[in-house]
Amino acid sequence: MAPKINGVGIMPEDTRICVVMVGLPARGKSYIAQRAQRYLKWLSIPAATFNVGNYRRENAPHPSADFFDTNNAEGERKRRAAAEAAVSDMLKWFKSGGVVGILDATNSTKERRRWVLERVASKGIEVLFVESRCDDENLIMANIRDVKTTSPDYVGQDPEKAALDFRERIRNYEKVYKSINDDGDEDHLTYLKIMNVGKKVFINRIQDYLQSRVVYFLMNLHIRPRSVWLSRHGESMLNLEGRIGGDAPLSHRGEEYALKLPELVRESVGSDRPLTVWTSTLKRTIATARHLPKHYNQLQWKALDELDAGVCDGMTYQEIADQYPEDFQARDEDKYNYRYRGGESYRDVVIRLEPIIMELERSEDILIISHQAVIRCIYAYFMQKTQEESPWVPVPLHTLIKLTPRAYGTEMQTYRANIKAVSTWRGKGSTAKHEDPAPEGGI
Ligand code: ATP
Ligand code: F6P
Repeated sequence: MAPKINGVGIMPEDTRICVVMVGLPARGKSYIAQRAQRYLKWLSIPAATFNVGNYRRENAPHPSADFFDTNNAEGERKRRAAAEAAVSDMLKWFKSGGVVGILDATNSTKERRRWVLERVASKGIEVLFVESRCDDENLIMANIRDVKTTSPDYVGQDPEKAALDFRERIRNYEKVYKSINDDGDEDHLTYLKIMNVGKKVFINRIQDYLQSRVVYFLMNLHIRPRSVWLSRHGESMLNLEGRIGGDAPLSHRGEEYALKLPELVRESVGSDRPLTVWTSTLKRTIATARHLPKHYNQLQWKALDELDAGVCDGMTYQEIADQYPEDFQARDEDKYNYRYRGGESYRDVVIRLEPIIMELERSEDILIISHQAVIRCIYAYFMQKTQEESPWVPVPLHTLIKLTPRAYGTEMQTYRANIKAVSTWRGKGSTAKHEDPAPEGGI
């Protein structure tokens, strides 16, 4: 089998994995599924989630708890039909080139797991079960209040009543729920079991590279409240000249931003919250971080260095267009994939940022001071920007961005320093030194 090199390394050409979520309701299955999908898509691995709840809502939009009682024949029939429809759509999707399909449902009985395994494995697709177990009553109630009372199942209903009904729904599931391999007869399954949001994990029969990447990523997820702050370095001397790359010092206004940053951080982070600061290894990010409080841990990462422009390093866009006209055009046509001669593409940057994302998932509050292209790639991860959009996102200088992961999505706030800086954004086809970005779609 010919190996291919892709976002996460080398894997056999036809590796396809079905991730089958397992667990009682309100255990974070959809949350985990959505995080895995975002991570894989960011790495250019075709991934999609098939949520059986969405299929079930087509024929039972507002079910009450007794719909989920296994003695309810009508409920059983509709739930089974929803699972069939989701699996059948997922198999079609695999046929059309899907690589990681996530079946988001409770799959809480051995019979249901056996059925999924048979349907999927018979098509040559690997099956990885991912179970989330949680017996922390407070967390479960918080999950119900935070995400379940606002679910489309309870639209227009009193949240208190909805929460009680959902609790009852869980009781119906509990009557038949079997955790994977609890009876010792599911040892042949490949699975990851996450107990109480990662306090303990069990892994069984993980087979190949892609499975282990997914498992490692999921083991690093946590749900403690936190934010990630992003800032570009202060304006540099090369920014003033409209030259890309290099390792220039800050301009006078860039120095002003470095002096102002502690105040912006205090305003956004608060003064008593511990913060870790990551910079690149280039002078301009290190200088931008140097007035931040000394008690913040600071770490320099080579992986946070700006996209390497190779032979074009230090040039203006006009010089590139004059000396390498074909390259200039090729970059505009496919900016994500275009690799500078002797340098990097946005795709290359994403691949080298993968350990940063992994570390970010494990961490609490982090401030990253880096560069335009790198921040675009990190921003794309959190805000789920496509490869067409992400290399063009305007990321202004002298602006602090706060990203706060929520149950489904990321919240963004920006803090402007009100210190003038040139714009380094460039529109398609343009060779201008400093051009105002298009108003929409930026930060
Ligand atoms: P359902 O079966 O009703 O679809 P679910 O298991 O998919 O429920 P989610 O909708 O994903 O549950 O619940 C989201 C909530 O779960 C979020 O508030 C999130 O913080 C929390 N959460 C995320 N991961 C976990 C985990 N491993 N254990 C418990 N709760 C988690
Ligand atoms: O101009 C500032 C800068 O950080 C350059 O060093 C880098 O090459 C460029 O931005 C990346 O932006 P783009 O990909 O839009 O050229």
